[in-house]
Amino acid sequence: MPAFKVGYFVGSLAKNSINRKLATALARLAPAELSLTEIRFDELPHYSWDYDVDYPAVARAFKESLAAVEAVLFVTPEYNRSIPGALKNAIDWASRPWGQNSLTRKPCAIIGTSPGKIGTAVAQSHLRSILAFCNAPLMNSLEAYIQFDKGLIDDDGKVTVESTETFLREFMSEFEGFIERVYTVLPRPA
Ligand code: FNR
Repeated sequence: MPAFKVGYFVGSLAKNSINRKLATALARLAPAELSLTEIRFDELPHYSWDYDVDYPAVARAFKESLAAVEAVLFVTPEYNRSIPGALKNAIDWASRPWGQNSLTRKPCAIIGTSPGKIGTAVAQSHLRSILAFCNAPLMNSLEAYIQFDKGLIDDDGKVTVESTETFLREFMSEFEGFIERVYTVLPRPA
């Protein structure tokens, strides 16, 4: 019986996203205590605070999916040395209306992959700053900057390099421990 429900965001909207492959691998390698489901944000319009008085149905459904999970995993590419705009837009929707921030006190972890040697490090740094403002407890370690060489992970989430697979398994195990630790001091969502 999984102990914690984890929602994951894939920061890319691309059909053949390498970060989606990574997310699929992480779901496969997660310990049995975690059950992972994707929280999609493709259909959200651009956020404006004009919506705060009456969120559209798509945004209400998005916030309900966040309310239904106990932790969030961000699997994101780096675009122009930051996070993709669509992901930032989703976080803006999640953070509002004022007083109804869906990310507050929700344990989060960040990971990402890129063909580049620094494997999304700059985007992750920006995302840490954003999530800190949103009052999300963030796993500091392990950090995971995955350089994606062709064929590293297939469409089914099978990792072809053993050392990477071991590391990703450790990452998810560490995240499970982090979530447990957060909920020893914070109340679990009802
Ligand atoms: C990139 N890419 C990229 N890579 C990187 O390491 N640092 C960067 O700043 C950028 N910038 C960037 C901007 C834009 C608009 C695109 C489309 C791409 C390359 C990127 O890592 C590569 O396309 C990955 O495949 C993106 O991940 P997804 O979308 O496949 O998950």
